[in-house]
Amino acid sequence: EEIQKNGFPHFMLKEIYEQPKIIQTVTNNYLNGNSASELKELFKDINRVYFIGCGTAYYAGLAAGALMEKYFPQEVKNMVASEFRYSEAKVDEHSLVIVISQSGETADTLAALRLAKKRGAKTIGIINVLGSTIAREVDKVFYTLTGPEIAVASTKAYTGQVLTLLYLLHYLAHLESRIGEEKYRAFINAAQQLPGQVTMMLDAISKVEDIAKKYQAVTHFFFIGRQLDYYSTLEGALKLKEIAYIPSESYPAGELKHGPLAMIDEKTLVVALANNDNLMMKMESNIREVKSRGAKVLLISTSRQLTEVSDDFLQIPETEEYLIPILVNVYQQLLAYQMAKLLSRDIDKPRNLAKSVTVE
Ligand code: G6P
Repeated sequence: EEIQKNGFPHFMLKEIYEQPKIIQTVTNNYLNGNSASELKELFKDINRVYFIGCGTAYYAGLAAGALMEKYFPQEVKNMVASEFRYSEAKVDEHSLVIVISQSGETADTLAALRLAKKRGAKTIGIINVLGSTIAREVDKVFYTLTGPEIAVASTKAYTGQVLTLLYLLHYLAHLESRIGEEKYRAFINAAQQLPGQVTMMLDAISKVEDIAKKYQAVTHFFFIGRQLDYYSTLEGALKLKEIAYIPSESYPAGELKHGPLAMIDEKTLVVALANNDNLMMKMESNIREVKSRGAKVLLISTSRQLTEVSDDFLQIPETEEYLIPILVNVYQQLLAYQMAKLLSRDIDKPRNLAKSVTVE
């Protein structure tokens, strides 16, 4: 096991550090756009697209769904597999169901897939484990090529899932003239910068460690953001719950005043994601709201604009809008990891959790 960890103290950290390489692998595999024509065929006569998964895979679907919603005419729905399978979701032959799963074996995701097929939907799998049950049962599988993920908490799989979906959707959007050449090239160029940018962020691990130490006594985390950032907060809070067992909530920043503000006090750390230029002012007032109730604020942003109102700051390199969740998440992974380490948690095998949930 020590050899497999390749010098890292935990599999989770090793897997976090594999991300630049994985981004490169996904890029090498999907850059040529070979899959685009097949995709076009699968999207024919489709008026509704579902992104289905559990846990981190579900959150990856949210990030991709946002892109789909922007450029495509189809109605986009994101659903947790365990809800989808018991719901009255309108799934028929004009639906495309995209199931996302690292293991390809998650029981609820598999059941959701089978239900979708039974109702006549076309199905795509975004899967990591080659030849897994879900990979075999979907109409078309796209592998995320992230290699084995051992740590129970998913890290590199998320990056592989989001990036694979973004490549596929950009190709399709380009092929169908939904985005122009310029937009398309801008995405490809930005994606090619990612490995270097993630490496740079990983080099700042000691800064994240210092932040974790500073907030070691925090009893409650809030992750807040708007739009795409909100989806990233979900994954940020999940990581902290999973491996550090710290109560962590994620909230669309505008919802704070509808209840959660009552929970905020000096022992709260608010992680504020602010990567949408149009919503900076809104995020600023949300940050002020929590600060005036005693919370400390860790800002994660591409811009320095809100550093004055925040206590700590982690800067995200400039990239294309839809790649931001990948970068934000690298810091969130490091933060959860460092908090869990300080609390001496069993990082790779957190209590009560399993890597692959094959029972219902
Ligand atoms: C478990 C794991 C999570 C993972 C989820 C979905 O809960 O602990 O890390 O996100 O299952 O797994 P899948 O293999 O379907 O992506």
